[in-house]
Amino acid sequence: MIDGQTKLFGIIGKPVTHSMSPAMHNGAFAHLGINGVYVPMEPGNLEQGFYGLQALGFIGVSVTVPFKVEIMAYLDRIDPVAQKIGAVNTLHFDRSHPEKVICTGYNTDWMGSNQALADEMTLQGSRVLVLGAGGAARAVGFGLIEAGAEVIITNRTVSKGEDLANQLGCAFLPVEELATLEADALVNTTSVGMHPNEHGIPIQENLLEKFAVVMDIVYAPLQTRLLREAAARGCRTVDGLKMLQYQGAAQFTLWTDVPAPNATMREALLGELQARSL
Ligand code: ATR
Repeated sequence: MIDGQTKLFGIIGKPVTHSMSPAMHNGAFAHLGINGVYVPMEPGNLEQGFYGLQALGFIGVSVTVPFKVEIMAYLDRIDPVAQKIGAVNTLHFDRSHPEKVICTGYNTDWMGSNQALADEMTLQGSRVLVLGAGGAARAVGFGLIEAGAEVIITNRTVSKGEDLANQLGCAFLPVEELATLEADALVNTTSVGMHPNEHGIPIQENLLEKFAVVMDIVYAPLQTRLLREAAARGCRTVDGLKMLQYQGAAQFTLWTDVPAPNATMREALLGELQARSL
């Protein structure tokens, strides 16, 4: 029941109609009996949208494409790792000070990818190959370094891969040289293999047996060709819903100070995938 006490949360992006986050967060509120609601919003103007959220009493807001960088201009504080990544996906409006609302920006994408991988391995001291050099690779790469892992970047476009590797202070390896690499884990951050191009695979199958753990951030389909080929070669696999689920869990706890109901949030996401026949 929505009433005068209902706490406000949501997501801003363009478009947001496809977002699975409302199902995940509203499912968590319902499960824990928290009087909160999480709504998708598409601001026509980001600045006006931000001050609207601040004025209307919102507590927590997710930020997605295309606003993750632009939003940083409006915040009172930015978490140091989000600052390094150069992107914010989570806003927390602290309303405990009578004179001023303080809005802090975080990036929970790296927390989500770290936790997803950490379900299968120890990150500290491990060596991880990251495929791709876009926004997702930045968050995954900085997160791994934060956790004490050694990162190696590979990417189809060499210049973009080298740029990211320079910013991370790590090595870049061209795709043609991957056969020479020894690493503990592989994380795909590209969209290769995503519905409707499900036949795609971002690395040659015969290279997969080198890795103990293979993680995909693509979650539609849940079992991508990459994960199926990896499992067939004896790798432990981590599906893309895990990162989405854990980044959402980190948001939930930042906003509510309550441990996130992980199983419920995953169930909600699986339900959404099924409803969309993905
Ligand atoms: P995001 O911000 O979601 O990570 P992005 O910035 O568009 O998305 O980055 C997409 C990444 O996937 C890039 O590293 C891209 O490689 P290029 O830098 O060469 O473009 C990679 N990618 C996308 N489609 C690919 C494909 N078919 N084969 C190989 N890499 C691909």
